Amino acid sequence: MDLDFNGRIVAITGAATGFGQATARAFARRGARVFAVDLDATGLAETASGLPPIRSTALDLTDHEAVAGWVRGIEAEAGPIGVLVNNAGGVLGRSFAPIEEASYADWRAILDVNLDAAFAMVKAATPGMKRAGTGRIVNISSGAGLRASRTGIQAYTSAKHGMIGLTRQLAQELGPFGITVNAVAPGLLAVSPGTRKQWDSYGAEGQKRVIEGLALRRTGEAEDIAKAVMFFASNLADYVTGQVLPVNGGSF
Ligand SMILES: NC(=O)c1ccc[n+]([C@@H]2O[C@H](COP(=O)([O-])OP(=O)(O)OC[C@H]3O[C@@H](n4cnc5c(N)ncnc54)[C@H](O)[C@@H]3O)[C@@H](O)[C@H]2O)c1
Repeated sequence: MDLDFNGRIVAITGAATGFGQATARAFARRGARVFAVDLDATGLAETASGLPPIRSTALDLTDHEAVAGWVRGIEAEAGPIGVLVNNAGGVLGRSFAPIEEASYADWRAILDVNLDAAFAMVKAATPGMKRAGTGRIVNISSGAGLRASRTGIQAYTSAKHGMIGLTRQLAQELGPFGITVNAVAPGLLAVSPGTRKQWDSYGAEGQKRVIEGLALRRTGEAEDIAKAVMFFASNLADYVTGQVLPVNGGSF
């Protein structure tokens, strides 16, 4: 069985690398009209290469006016967003600092991209979805949204827990309008420069321990997250909302 998103309008944030790139390409291969956004124009060009057109835009998601303008542009060109994937995030190059040394600037920066940007995207996309009477929102949280993070970064764990709270609350609010809201909680997958650095820092022994802690005894790929996003976006998930799907190879 395969999924068909022919003509669906799909907007994906953080689509220049890793999960966002894999998800954008997976939807495009299945016929969707994909609109991709990221800070990184070079990565966006790679996302779009060799596929039916993916419309990409380089912008900073912490600029909420620019976010609203991007959504207005999609609606003017193609119509209301059918599927919104809030994927942009990560630790933004930060590493662990003990709480008494952790800076407000780093706290704010991580919250801005991992949580506030999703809030801004949903605010901008929801009126169109309500007019259409349908919509799918998929938020990328993390295992760090369900428990403490291996990174130790307080802001990251807080933002990813916040993403799950936002998912559950919006599912209640938007369900009556035919809009579902779900979250994917990936385990550590070394798919982007930041996560590769984290993975490398464990060394051979540390990596072996992580893999032995996974039921499937192997690490996953960005496409594994794209599959979970497509499930929530597809009609297989018509009656699923407010849920969190861990995709982590059976981490325990
Ligand atoms: N890879 C993992 O192991 C893992 C595990 C759990 C959760 N996640 C989450 O999955 C998502 C994708 O992670 P990833 O590892 O694929 O890639 P990533 O963490 O490297 O980054 C995602 C993208 O977000 C973009 N971005 C950052 N700030 C931005 C801004 N202000 N405006 C626009 N774009 C911005 C980056 O340029 C990047 O392309 C993130 O939300 C991350 O927190 C990742």
